[in-house]
Amino acid sequence: MQLGFGFWASKTLLSAVELKVFGTLSEAGPLNADELGERLGLHPRGARDFFDALVALRMLDRTGGRYSNTPETDLFLDPAKPTYVGGVLEVSNARLYTFWGSLTEGLRTGQPQSEVKTGGDFFETLYADPEKLAQFTGAMTGLSRAAGDAIAAKFRWRDYGSVIDIGCAQGAVPAAIATAHNHLSGGGFDLPPVEPIFNSYVTQFGLADRLRFTPGNFFDDPLPSADVLIMGHILHDWELDQKRLLLQKAYDALPTGGALIVYEAIIDDDRRHNAFGLLMSLNMLIEGLGFDFTGPDCRGWMADVGFSESYVEHLVGPDSMVVGIK
Ligand SMILES: C[S@@+](CC[C@H](N)C(=O)[O-])C[C@H]1O[C@@H](n2cnc3c(N)ncnc32)[C@H](O)[C@@H]1O
Repeated sequence: MQLGFGFWASKTLLSAVELKVFGTLSEAGPLNADELGERLGLHPRGARDFFDALVALRMLDRTGGRYSNTPETDLFLDPAKPTYVGGVLEVSNARLYTFWGSLTEGLRTGQPQSEVKTGGDFFETLYADPEKLAQFTGAMTGLSRAAGDAIAAKFRWRDYGSVIDIGCAQGAVPAAIATAHNHLSGGGFDLPPVEPIFNSYVTQFGLADRLRFTPGNFFDDPLPSADVLIMGHILHDWELDQKRLLLQKAYDALPTGGALIVYEAIIDDDRRHNAFGLLMSLNMLIEGLGFDFTGPDCRGWMADVGFSESYVEHLVGPDSMVVGIK
């Protein structure tokens, strides 16, 4: 029953993010139900139930009839803080929540149920709208920030001098790595419309002198070279032939001894525990033509294109990295 009605709780949180409940309380809280409802522009009929449901879901605290953020929602869901990860929930709300309503149709037909349902390229369609571009790249930061910190902590960066994140979006992962390791330089590679978004993100962290943006298309252009290349949530976007092509291009761009780090919600080898990874793969059915994969799947593709060694290491939550050494 909890699973079956899970969308009630999910949509309550997504609407709270959309309505900026957490940002409002961080700025002006604690507030009583009338004050908070008025600030958010809510009709009184549902407001109290909405706020108290968020208390019951442990997304808000209430003391003496006044609502405030919990320490966690204050840290991660206040859009004014650099620790904000709600971008990925904004996209879930604005896009995925509706698209997942057609999961059954996707399962029956094998066809995407996103913006590309009526044809067209996923990223071209999404990036034609500047608001959606900003929202999507911000969402990627929410999805990958914690993995970026874990990659910064777990990989042997002292053996390498440069790193480029291929398909970097805002650049949250190279920013996390460069913040933790002063000796590293490099940057991000992504489609040209992402350049101003990357530049403003890394500038915010004082990293613009060490992290540069290279515009390009990873199918049409050679990949830039660095000691370490990263691909986060890139391979899962594409069909098998394209996955193999991207791995080949990364191999070609690396120096001997260089490393490719692929991180995703890597599915466990037995395909029965990492529910988020498996649901992410269904999400790729909804989104486009891609699919998620296990560590051995990825290591096999890496070996096929020439990587001499590879290993899988858990990062955080559902995410792991597969590292290939040339
Ligand atoms: C799913 S997002 C992953 C973003 C980031 N690596 C992360 O994990 O947070 C895919 C990224 O690949 C980029 N991308 C898509 N197609 C591309 C192409 N043909 N050439 C270069 N970048 C591309 C998108 O702009 C987007 O930033």
